[in-house]
Amino acid sequence: MFSNEARNALYDIIRMRRDVRAEFAGDTVTEDVLWRILAAAHHAPSVGNTQPWDFVVVQDEQRLEAFAEHVAGCRQAFADSLPEDRRHTFDPIKVEGIVESRTGIVVTYDPERGGKHILGRHTIDDSGLFSAVLAIQNLWLAATAEGLGVGWVSFYDEPFLTEFIGAEGAVRPIAWLCVGPVTRLQEVPDLERFGWRRGRPLTDAVHRDRFGDAYEQQDTAEA
Ligand SMILES: Cc1cc2nc3c(=O)[nH]c(=O)nc-3n(C[C@H](O)[C@H](O)[C@H](O)COP(=O)(O)O)c2cc1C
Repeated sequence: MFSNEARNALYDIIRMRRDVRAEFAGDTVTEDVLWRILAAAHHAPSVGNTQPWDFVVVQDEQRLEAFAEHVAGCRQAFADSLPEDRRHTFDPIKVEGIVESRTGIVVTYDPERGGKHILGRHTIDDSGLFSAVLAIQNLWLAATAEGLGVGWVSFYDEPFLTEFIGAEGAVRPIAWLCVGPVTRLQEVPDLERFGWRRGRPLTDAVHRDRFGDAYEQQDTAEA
């Protein structure tokens, strides 16, 4: 169905995707690319086909600065909550590129979209939220393919951002995404580079039959 080249390109994009903070080049994403990555987000799977997401694009400089100021306060509160050694490690870590990226995309989740009888959300209410998160991942990978950087910012108070974008009712902002052209993508996640937390090997994350049991890979290679 897909050529080896196309398949390898997809795996490369998945591997190269990074959370970007310091590498935004300072240019604004073009309108056509912006719509392509939003279309990719909108192609995400969703429980009961509810598509519970919306995207609020923020490019006004003063609004970007206002949100960055709020985030700086939340970052400070987190720093203040840390024991001294962790605070020392955290200090040089940048947690956002809100102004430099020049574009913020606030992704919202509407738990009421689709009404009361949502096929697939009957027992797992969170499946609605999962759907909106999948839209974010689609956007993130599409942006990577376009040579853009994306940085997910969650250092905010939800009521502040709700008010900031004028969301009403049950609609929740679930992410502020900084989106823009980059000078480069780091090869290693920032939190690893700065010694905050390393990733774990896949073999630790995969189990056979029961959570916690190891998965011994079988040799299925053809003779
Ligand atoms: C739900 C979510 C919230 C995040 N919030 C922030 C954030 O507020 N600030 C930040 O710098 N990175 C944030 N990140 C990015 C993670 O730190 C990053 O994905 C992780 O360290 C792995 O790095 P990588 O994405 O470059 O592979 C967030 C990621 C996710 C999935």
